[in-house]
Amino acid sequence: KIINVILSGGVGSRLWPLSRKSKPKQYLPLFDGKSLFELAVERNKEVCTDLCIVGGIDNYALSRQILKKLNVQRFGEIVEACPRNTAAAIAFSAFEANPEDILLVTPSDQLIKNDALYYSALETAIDLAKNNHIVTFGLQPKHPETGFGYIEYKGNEVISFREKPSRELAESFVASGNFLWNSGMFCFKAGVFLEELEKLEPELYGASHRAFFKKNGVYLNELLSMEIPSISVDYAVMEKTDKIKVVPSFFDWSDMGSFQAIYDFVPDNDSRKSAGNLSLNSSKLVEFVGVDNIILVETEDAILVLNKNNAQDVKKVYERLEIEN
Ligand code: GDD
Ligand code: MG
Repeated sequence: KIINVILSGGVGSRLWPLSRKSKPKQYLPLFDGKSLFELAVERNKEVCTDLCIVGGIDNYALSRQILKKLNVQRFGEIVEACPRNTAAAIAFSAFEANPEDILLVTPSDQLIKNDALYYSALETAIDLAKNNHIVTFGLQPKHPETGFGYIEYKGNEVISFREKPSRELAESFVASGNFLWNSGMFCFKAGVFLEELEKLEPELYGASHRAFFKKNGVYLNELLSMEIPSISVDYAVMEKTDKIKVVPSFFDWSDMGSFQAIYDFVPDNDSRKSAGNLSLNSSKLVEFVGVDNIILVETEDAILVLNKNNAQDVKKVYERLEIEN
């Protein structure tokens, strides 16, 4: 079996006010009427035989709606009691699978062009995973982004993996030409992943196992879940494992994390864009005069006026307002 594990835990707070707790960004129909979640399901069902969605209760109904629309009838669901980050989320999906099943773990918030380049990268990754490797997908870095992981590589070999480096390090990585961006997608056998997790993070492994086995249906035990260390798979496994390989990849990829990324995605001749400014979701005529770098976002109950260079700071607004969401 080849199981596409879709991680759909987050809200996407940097896309407030479009994204809300009740409407996380991966479910917003921003891309020709489709959401990132929907695009991810469609893209991966070409190669995967099975599907497993891991996320919190708020995302559960939203996922089901889309799967119904796509007529996907057979899928697994793991409902987390509280978000404990990606190492635990992936562990749950691996507990549910057979050790020999191949997991293709994908985030739900990326925009990828489904083309031959994507599918050939998957094919290489699946072959490496069959040989008991833990496979990452590496993309040519475009700028010294500090929110990503970096893979130092030679062919499929990984010399080092460094998650979210400082600005200085990121600059030196990009300048060296020996590093790729980590895509956030992974491929491995369920059993191989669990073995490594148990070896490298025994506490996290044990706590995830206890929370999972006290489950009631697909729901995880809440009290036991709180005891799981919240560590991302990048720190927990990828930085430390010697089973890691990389598939240098050339498909079109973007992490739709912030309004900056959406700005970059919208073509320059789109009527919502003018002189370096962008309006999103507005029902009114919007004119920009004498300003640049402005992104204006309108929803029924909120307006965001953002300097594009501060796209990462939207998270702070979300956090301040969280109670009302
Ligand atoms: N189910 C579940 N539970 N999903 C989660 C949880 C959780 O507790 N936490 C995060 N996720 C989901 C998010 O919704 C997203 O789809 C994916 O896991 C990755 O989490 P992010 O929080 O977006 O990670 P990141 O962007 O900081 O970093 C990762 O992705 C980068 C590329 O976009 C890393 O893998 C980096 O190395 C990588 O460069
Ligand atoms: Mg992300």
